[in-house]
Amino acid sequence: MENACLGRSHRSEAGRAKLKELIGLSRKILDVPRDYHLGIVPASDTGAVEMALWSLLGKIPLDILAWESFGQEWVKDVVDELQLVDTRLFKAPYGNLPDLNLVDFSHDVVFLWNGTTSGVRVPNGDWIDSNRTGLTICDATSAVFAMDIPWEKIDVLTYSWQKVLGGEAQHGVIILSPRAIKRLETYQPQRPLPKLFRLTKQGKFNKSIFNGDTINTPSMLCVEDALDALQWAERIGGKSGLIRRSEKNLEAMSQWVEKTQWVDFLAKQPETRSCTSMCLKIVDDWFVSLSSEQQSECVVQVVELLAEEDVAYDIASYRAAPPGLRIWGGATIETTDLQALFSWLDWAYATVKKIWINLR
Ligand SMILES: Cc1ncc(COP(=O)(O)O)c(C=O)c1O
Repeated sequence: MENACLGRSHRSEAGRAKLKELIGLSRKILDVPRDYHLGIVPASDTGAVEMALWSLLGKIPLDILAWESFGQEWVKDVVDELQLVDTRLFKAPYGNLPDLNLVDFSHDVVFLWNGTTSGVRVPNGDWIDSNRTGLTICDATSAVFAMDIPWEKIDVLTYSWQKVLGGEAQHGVIILSPRAIKRLETYQPQRPLPKLFRLTKQGKFNKSIFNGDTINTPSMLCVEDALDALQWAERIGGKSGLIRRSEKNLEAMSQWVEKTQWVDFLAKQPETRSCTSMCLKIVDDWFVSLSSEQQSECVVQVVELLAEEDVAYDIASYRAAPPGLRIWGGATIETTDLQALFSWLDWAYATVKKIWINLR
């Protein structure tokens, strides 16, 4: 790669210029408002989310929403680790969303824009109060660059490069609104904060992290890769181009699901169906009659068969989700590739089913 800044210090003029370029290009493509800050932080999306939870929560009550396993992880953080007692939990089983109308925006609110492991997303930001007094903290790692984010409704947003951008992992991105920054400067939680989570310096917001400095040493290889992905994103039409590609994939998937008897979306409401992590359940009577262990084993065999044929890899549902398939439809996926997969899915499922029935 030409001009790659590899083997150089991230603090060198050249290294810092790359980090600044990456911040600038991310802001541009995501249309981040001028008064919001975007910074590169350690430990991928998990690092970015936990840095926000540890730095900001505890001042006022919290409403936290969870409808699949990553949301559950953040519940575990606030309930078991941070032990925030003034917390209301809004849960829903796989395939559903909690009742968004019950959320109180005078509280801080933690939620995912897209539940990666259930393929259920919030349909839009209409349910979020523009005049809220609490902060909205949104894990958008499988949503950003594929779904429209109404910035005026968001105070903290996090993501990583390996999801919709298809880049390398290990760095997170955190975006902060002026209200989030005000909280950082006016509230110091009574808990120890590791250096990796510190967004302030002597009580003031540490702007340098949002201007090309990093808390610890970043991988300049990952930085280069993220820049490459963003330049690609820009070439295909920026945010709207990315969203269009991903929505087109959802449309293709919907058409196939519509005409296919043995599958359905795990997401119950059509407006909540994810265009990135498209999760399917198997609804064939024969499959439904199996025990859940047998269902999982059947899915493993379908997925192995497809991998043996080099057709698809890693498309089983997440380990904590109901047995089924999870197919990525983010912007890096060509719709024609997805369409080519459908008849293979029919073939693999029919093959495994036949083997099982013959063995009984
Ligand atoms: C919604 C969500 N949150 C958090 C994570 C964890 O991300 P990372 O591995 O980048 O820390 C994932 C990973 O898939 C995710 O989908």
